[in-house]
Amino acid sequence: MNKKDLRKMMLEKLQEIDSKSHIYKSKSIINKLFDSEQYKSSKDIFVFVSFKNEINTHEFINRAINDNKNVYVPIIDKANKLMNISKLTRFEDLESGYFGVLEPNKESIDIVDPNILDLVITPGLIFNTKGYRIGYGAGFYDKFFSSLNTNPTKIGICFEEQIMDFENDDYDIPVDLIINDKSTINIK
Ligand SMILES: Nc1ncnc2c1ncn2[C@@H]1O[C@H](COP(=O)(O)OP(=O)(O)O)[C@@H](O)[C@H]1O
Ligand SMILES: [Mg+2]
Repeated sequence: MNKKDLRKMMLEKLQEIDSKSHIYKSKSIINKLFDSEQYKSSKDIFVFVSFKNEINTHEFINRAINDNKNVYVPIIDKANKLMNISKLTRFEDLESGYFGVLEPNKESIDIVDPNILDLVITPGLIFNTKGYRIGYGAGFYDKFFSSLNTNPTKIGICFEEQIMDFENDDYDIPVDLIINDKSTINIK
């Protein structure tokens, strides 16, 4: 199957996870993330703001801010099809943005140099055991990672159902660690 068909298949498969399991699995993944050495040793953390049936990162964002981490969230630059990062100090500063995903409101936008990041919490539709991911198809994270001069730790979070074998493209950039509800996969 090509990436396009795999995306479609996984989006359908994710619909089948009932809401109770979704909440339970999400919480267990986020708890593992908090318990990880990578989280504990990071100061500057970039995390996606979950949308629809993605793993819920809202509580993660609140607690990380409370833990005195510097938390950054994506702002999509539609014109250039690129992802910027903006420092978030209060969850309440988020409002509906690109495709309905929460983004910092105009007054609170604080775009910073992404080379300061220690850790990137990376979303994905499918991950393989080599750490490669299939996203929604815009290549935002591939472009973002390839633009960095630094090498932050990249953690992919997903449900166990989202781990599947597939052939990556040359421009795909893998994560270093995958945390899911059943296991933690260390790539290096
Ligand atoms: N470093 C990059 N620079 C420019 N374009 C890129 C880069 N990495 C990926 N792309 C482009 O992004 C598009 C989507 O990539 P793909 O891997 O299919 O999406 P996703 O990673 O979201 O699943 C591809 O057409 C690819 O050419
Ligand atoms: Mg890709």
